[in-house]
Amino acid sequence: MLLTPQIKKILITGGAGFIGSHLVEMLLKENKQVICFDNLSSGKKEWIKPHLRNRNFIFHKADLLDLDKLKKSLKGSDLVWHLAANTDIPNGFFKTDMDLKNCVIGTRNVLEGMRLSGVKQIIFSSTGAIYGETGKIPFSESNGPLLPISLYAAGKLSSESFISAYCYLFGLNAWMFRFGNVLGARMGHGVIHDFQVKLRKNQKQLEILGDGNQAKNYFLVEECIGGMDFVYKHADLAKQPCDIFNLGTDSRTGVVEIADIICQEMKLQGVKYKFTGGKRGWPGDQPQVFLSVAKVKKLGWYPTHSSTEAVRIATRRMLGLEKFAYEG
Ligand SMILES: NC(=O)c1ccc[n+]([C@@H]2O[C@H](COP(=O)([O-])OP(=O)(O)OC[C@H]3O[C@@H](n4cnc5c(N)ncnc54)[C@H](O)[C@@H]3O)[C@@H](O)[C@H]2O)c1
Repeated sequence: MLLTPQIKKILITGGAGFIGSHLVEMLLKENKQVICFDNLSSGKKEWIKPHLRNRNFIFHKADLLDLDKLKKSLKGSDLVWHLAANTDIPNGFFKTDMDLKNCVIGTRNVLEGMRLSGVKQIIFSSTGAIYGETGKIPFSESNGPLLPISLYAAGKLSSESFISAYCYLFGLNAWMFRFGNVLGARMGHGVIHDFQVKLRKNQKQLEILGDGNQAKNYFLVEECIGGMDFVYKHADLAKQPCDIFNLGTDSRTGVVEIADIICQEMKLQGVKYKFTGGKRGWPGDQPQVFLSVAKVKKLGWYPTHSSTEAVRIATRRMLGLEKFAYEG
């Protein structure tokens, strides 16, 4: 069972997004009451459509910047699972207020809404991107100083700080997670999504951003949700009101290996790879991600699939060759 029997009603911000819509499905399967708060900026109504008639499900199409609506929607919830944010990382370079509004102010509004409506628990999706490139490898929760290299990461690090301060000042508890790359069906962004879109348009040549040396860690969406749930149940918040955990695998997959897997699963042969060059795929990209998951491992959790297995499974799900176990 996800969460505990005492947690009956959960407000999910970003519940119509990639991770959020999987979480909605998993919670509804367990007869939890779910309130989905999403402005559909990158989420899709079709991903939550099957639940719109479920009496345990309420959908508010609304923006985190609307504090009044947030406060009303939060009433009676036992926990907030806060996933909403700008997730178009490259676009933050051009629209420089996106991460400030949708992540920093959005998170502060969630916290303020919780304070005003008496909700005490929050699970937060941060990112391994907050580690930037300080050269301390692997990226461990105790690394510092943290110097983000994208506005997305800056927004997440600021949000972690606001969450911590609200916990210490107003009696909240928070479980914060710095994810590796999360994979599954319904991805609206990320390397697997991009390569599939490009290969559908041109089956002879694939453009790969950067020099081809990028390597990151990948894990499946249900493992990400399972990992958060495990930590929620097992982390000791007796001495401090909030804690932070890296979440993912410690294996990695290179970008060319990902391209190979996608071509294999799409049954394409002889595709030429064209590299755009430079070590970064886009401004703010972290080409090398070495996430340490020792802290969550010590607590007793580790994903079942390696990074490369997760890439293949997610590719197959996106191509409709495999199903997410909770679907339908
Ligand atoms: N997918 C990953 O690999 C990954 C990695 C690290 C962290 N995360 C974090 O996990 C969370 C979920 O990511 P995802 O991959 O499902 O992305 P997503 O874009 O599919 O989901 C984000 C959701 O938030 C909603 N949203 C955005 N701004 C909003 C606002 N102002 N008000 C209301 N709703 C708003 C969007 O419509 C969308 O449904 C995000 O916070 C993301 O930063 C994801």
